[in-house]
Amino acid sequence: MSNVINSIMERVSNPKLTQPCPNRDQLEQMFRCAVRAPDHGRLRPWRFVVLEGDALLKLGHAFEASQPGADEAKRLRLRSMPLRAPMIIVSIATLDWEHKKVPVWEQQVAVGIATQHLQLAAKELGFGTMWRTGEMTEAESVRAYLGVADNEQIIGFLYTGTVEGEPRAADLQALDEIVEYRS
Ligand SMILES: Cc1cc2nc3c(=O)[nH]c(=O)nc-3n(C[C@H](O)[C@H](O)[C@H](O)COP(=O)(O)O)c2cc1C
Repeated sequence: MSNVINSIMERVSNPKLTQPCPNRDQLEQMFRCAVRAPDHGRLRPWRFVVLEGDALLKLGHAFEASQPGADEAKRLRLRSMPLRAPMIIVSIATLDWEHKKVPVWEQQVAVGIATQHLQLAAKELGFGTMWRTGEMTEAESVRAYLGVADNEQIIGFLYTGTVEGEPRAADLQALDEIVEYRS
């Protein structure tokens, strides 16, 4: 099997991630892959923010600030969420709501594909990732910290680092119920 098919078939999400994370050269390779995503109208509707170190602590404070009424246990949980990996790459879609030919959903899909290219490139470079979203993508405090504009949307927090322990085996979905062949 080709390398690409192997990589895709073997890819799994990695919830347990530690140091080291990709260096600048490796990140650049990953972003070069990301921007090869198919993209109707070549709008290039993506941008990325890479967070490490103190920036992850600040993201944790932004998570916490999104729920001012939460009790201390919940606040601690929110604050700690970004610390589940040594690096988070935030994928952001810059959306053109008025575009005559390319509806917003196609722009969102393009950024989703770019994010998946990041996951696959990271895997090829020996790193693990986990794509997370949830209500923190919408939280005002989070959007403000990341500088997400009104016409932008967070498509994913890509937790990134080195896989801790053995990665689980990829499961295989049966195809007969989801694929239809006609001729
Ligand atoms: C757009 C998107 C958002 C996701 N958000 C979350 C999330 O917030 N929390 C989570 O546990 N998994 C989330 N996932 C799913 C995981 O990244 C992962 O794909 C899923 O657990 C299946 O595991 P696998 O990738 O190893 O097959 C999301 C996936 C996508 C594509």
